[in-house]
Amino acid sequence: MNILVTGGAGYIGSHTCVELLQAGHKVIIADNFSNSKSQVLQAIEAITGKKPVFYQIDVADYKALKQLFCENDIDGAIHFAGYKAVGESVQKPLSYYQNNFCTALTLAQVMQEEGVFRLVFSSSATVYGIDNPIPYKEEYPTGAVNPYGRTKVMIEQMLTDLAASDRRWSIALLRYFNPIGAHPSGLLGEDPNGIPNNLLPYIAKVAAGQLPHLNVFGDDYDTRDGTGVRDYLHVVDLAEGHLAAMDYMMEHNGVEAVNLGTGQGSSVIEVLHAFEQACGKQLPYQIAPRRPGDIGEYYAHPGKAERLFGWKAKRSLQQMCADSWRYTCRQNNL
Ligand code: UFG
Repeated sequence: MNILVTGGAGYIGSHTCVELLQAGHKVIIADNFSNSKSQVLQAIEAITGKKPVFYQIDVADYKALKQLFCENDIDGAIHFAGYKAVGESVQKPLSYYQNNFCTALTLAQVMQEEGVFRLVFSSSATVYGIDNPIPYKEEYPTGAVNPYGRTKVMIEQMLTDLAASDRRWSIALLRYFNPIGAHPSGLLGEDPNGIPNNLLPYIAKVAAGQLPHLNVFGDDYDTRDGTGVRDYLHVVDLAEGHLAAMDYMMEHNGVEAVNLGTGQGSSVIEVLHAFEQACGKQLPYQIAPRRPGDIGEYYAHPGKAERLFGWKAKRSLQQMCADSWRYTCRQNNL
């Protein structure tokens, strides 16, 4: 199939492009490099031996996206393009609503006009809000607590309305838990600019000697060691989940919200220890105050993905850390 991947040069997008190319699909990437680098395209080609078609465009640019559809016989789209930093979304809500919502709206509009009805949307466990019992199940009410999360909820609602309006649509709303790790080649991974917000990139920088220690945000949560517990999953497992969703959508119409997670929670200290094993050294940390907006513990109920898509995360926390460390070493010539 010819698959459009918006945000295909980003962290999850690039890993998904690799899996799509290796499965024999043709990949057309639309990315404006707002949070990614052009070298990623070379890495995708180096891993797969295949060159994706690339458009450096803003997906919210209607004319540019229309031209992309006219020049390529698109069968389906995976929509990753969007801003994703929770803290920044609180500072700049308009830019999050504008960018995230307008890209999704323009894409859906052009797809409808061009008669392409298969769409995978990159959503997030953040849509569950804070009052639901764990593990999170897809049927729970949504309700995000920051502008970033609210853009995901709004887009899910728009796409649900769209699917209800026309039976030809087949839409998967994939709710990711905490993707970490890197491609086992060491060529692709997560490399945020500046000081990372997320746990794994932060630990990797401590391990590489670029930051002095990890700040553990709170050790007084009601969890097994007092630190926050999340459902970390390997980015390659996550990428495979998108292919499984695409396969399912070949045979089914309508809209489905589906969790992609392992169903297992790990604490901050457990992740730190797993990374220490991967890099072979002790990593310094300090207990810091809780981060505003964080909750103690959540993880996925992963059953629906297995039932519908036949997909299950299979890579361990150890493997996630080992792959992430390999990528860090390569990036920093360690
Ligand atoms: N943490 C630290 N120190 C750090 C960074 C994080 O202790 O320097 C802790 C957090 O308090 C939390 C855990 O590590 O307990 C994970 O934090 P992340 O920032 O890595 O991830 P979050 O669970 O907060 O959020 C991530 C994405 C969101 C997404 C969510 C979905 O950033 O965009 O997963 O589960 F919505």
